[in-house]
Amino acid sequence: MSAFAVDPTVPRASATDIAVALQDPGFGRYFVDHMAQATWSAADGWHDKALLATGPLSLHPAVSGLHYGQQIFEGLKAYRHADDSVWMFRPEKNAARFAHSAARMQMPALPTEDFIESVTKVVQLNLDWVPQAEGEQSLYLRPFMFASEIQIGVKASDYYTYICLGMPVMPFYPQPLTLWVSPTYSRSMAGGTGDAKCGGNYGASMIAEAEAHRNGCTQVLWLDSATRSWVEEGGTMNFLVITESGELVTPELNGRILAGITRDSLLTLAESHGLRPVERPLAFAELCEGITSGRITEVLACGTAAVVSPVVGIKSPEIDLTVGDGTPGAKTLELRAHLTGIQFGTEPDIHGWMRRVG
Ligand SMILES: Cc1ncc(COP(=O)(O)O)c(C=O)c1O
Repeated sequence: MSAFAVDPTVPRASATDIAVALQDPGFGRYFVDHMAQATWSAADGWHDKALLATGPLSLHPAVSGLHYGQQIFEGLKAYRHADDSVWMFRPEKNAARFAHSAARMQMPALPTEDFIESVTKVVQLNLDWVPQAEGEQSLYLRPFMFASEIQIGVKASDYYTYICLGMPVMPFYPQPLTLWVSPTYSRSMAGGTGDAKCGGNYGASMIAEAEAHRNGCTQVLWLDSATRSWVEEGGTMNFLVITESGELVTPELNGRILAGITRDSLLTLAESHGLRPVERPLAFAELCEGITSGRITEVLACGTAAVVSPVVGIKSPEIDLTVGDGTPGAKTLELRAHLTGIQFGTEPDIHGWMRRVG
């Protein structure tokens, strides 16, 4: 059942405006012409599904999402291949995670077919906005949902608004990363929202990110909040190490970290690079000892925005470690080239991850 109706009056950006945006898109600075929108109410379920002009919303200041943080989001990309076809990467995984986040935040699930249709139509109506592959540019899609009942008082809303925005982007972290281990702040806890993609997780992390920047680091490496002895993940990315015995180790999904789709993809690709994928608890002490002794040969972080980013340093008030010789690791670069090759259509998609949309 197709449901998202296209508003035929949406103004189109000129070819010149699009060319200017694509010359240096940054991340999240320019938005495509159409956004998808849908409304949910307890009485009617999902309705008013449409592709409208990307633009300001008219909101009563008492909508509860602005007060109590009942909000979730996703991030996925569409890639232009050399033959000009346009493809999305594993969108059904984002749909499933969006539903998981919704359940955790006591919000209604958006059916998978509505999620897929909305992201697909945002791409299809805005194909001129999908950059060429040079510089690993792509079209980033940002589906999100927030509580939109006019209500001051803490309770789950009876109204929700879903929107999907599209924007041309470059990779978020073009340089190798140095990660900061905060002595003070935590991202998640047992029973908390760490495995949901909700805005509050990110709002609460910004103070640690500012601390990272003050200490010359790009991002945060989060440890578990209870004991500060287990590695969890990076600020907007999952965390992995490669050992000298040929393991690709990443902390297991323990309910406190986000189940990254890039993480899952790298674990799947590992064996074709001579690496054994291992999901298990990773002690911070083991990480430090491994980097110092050389038992850990490479460190990397991954995510849709971050792609696959080499980590060349780890810092805290007590430590300042350089990974290997301080340059990106060879296996990390191989994995990155393989994944982006699948996404941009230059490597075979043997796992069936790509979905053609244009
Ligand atoms: C906290 C966090 N962890 C991990 C990831 C990586 O997830 P994915 O690979 O699905 O983008 C992200 C980015 O979405 C994130 O925000």
